[in-house]
Amino acid sequence: MWKSAQGMEYLNEALRAMERDGLKRALRPLTPLGPTRALLHGRELTLFCTNNYLGLTHHPLVMKKAREALETFGAGSGAARLVSGHTPLHQTLEEAIARFKGCARALVFPSGYMANIAALSALAGRGDVVFCDRLCHASLLDGCRLSGAKTVRFRHNDPASLRSLLPQHPGRKRLLVTEGIFSMDGDTAPLASLHALAEQSDLGFIVDDAHGTAVLGPGGKGTPAAQGISSRGLVLTGTLSKALGSVGGFIAGDGVLIEYVMNKARPFLFTTALPPASAAAALAALEVVEGRPEILNLLWENVERMHRGLAAAGFAGAKTSPIMPLVLGSPERALRVAGRLLDRGYYVPAIRPPSVPPGTARLRITVSAAHTEEEIEGFLTALNEALEGESRESRVESQKS
Ligand SMILES: Cc1ncc(COP(=O)(O)O)c(C=O)c1O
Repeated sequence: MWKSAQGMEYLNEALRAMERDGLKRALRPLTPLGPTRALLHGRELTLFCTNNYLGLTHHPLVMKKAREALETFGAGSGAARLVSGHTPLHQTLEEAIARFKGCARALVFPSGYMANIAALSALAGRGDVVFCDRLCHASLLDGCRLSGAKTVRFRHNDPASLRSLLPQHPGRKRLLVTEGIFSMDGDTAPLASLHALAEQSDLGFIVDDAHGTAVLGPGGKGTPAAQGISSRGLVLTGTLSKALGSVGGFIAGDGVLIEYVMNKARPFLFTTALPPASAAAALAALEVVEGRPEILNLLWENVERMHRGLAAAGFAGAKTSPIMPLVLGSPERALRVAGRLLDRGYYVPAIRPPSVPPGTARLRITVSAAHTEEEIEGFLTALNEALEGESRESRVESQKS
């Protein structure tokens, strides 16, 4: 590390500033007891914060297939995909994802973050323009930066804002980027209007459906399918690490697009392949979702139950996804309410800037198909107690401008 005191002092001062502003993070070692429960320092907690929307992390078939793959293929993949890290499991998984998404081909990555930075950095470059929703996930913004393209951010979920910006930013190639379900707000993008604009203005259209995959649309096919939009011509990205209960990410789209990304994207070329056991787990999860789509009904019943409870507690919000933000404003306030919930046995960490815009710290409450009615009712009671003396005015609208 730096020999001069000055270098280390910079780090210490930055950490002190984070502490002062309520923005310092700490790791907590959770030992899962199943999809919705975990031990923290020997204490049992119920989780209302994971992206394990279908509880598939602990599904018997998913675990069995991962175990079998571990026995056959070993713990790691040993090299990048284009060296020796590509197995028949990766190939079958890519075929299954392409089929599920209604696309010609798919390409799998070790994480959804990498899929996003790969898509953007391969498809855009200097001289190009990327129009990006203002609340897009960090991985999409990092992808824009990595690409070297000019990034223009439009108002959240506002096609009119995008339309007004288009004539001001000509470029060699232009791309539009948004999310299916927004990760911190749980609302969905108006894909039909955005798609029409993309068609009119010849924009490549990337939809990150990390949270919509195996959640929204017929059979969980995702947000475009839920809004009646064909996958044809879209660049779809997503993760295997949320509703599909494993780890990894993907890009799905036209054959030429995937061939190009596979040859061009540095986050694909220069990293070790997804472990085979994770590919096997994701493949089994897709099999569960396709073979037993009624699992989605359990999720949506729980979304409905939680939404009703939150509305009764004074927090109205959109009932569009398993993500329900309870925007509390300051980091201190979010930390205070999260702490009170923890005291009562419920784990929902405070989400603070830079994960969300300043002034919109929140509890990001998520529900899963695996939650029981008792767990949700218990959580709602605890939440009401934790909010005692706090204003119930959710500020979710204020961040959208
Ligand atoms: C919208 C969105 N895209 C991409 C990612 C990254 O996915 P992964 O966790 O698989 O890297 C996330 C995860 O937080 C996300 O919320």
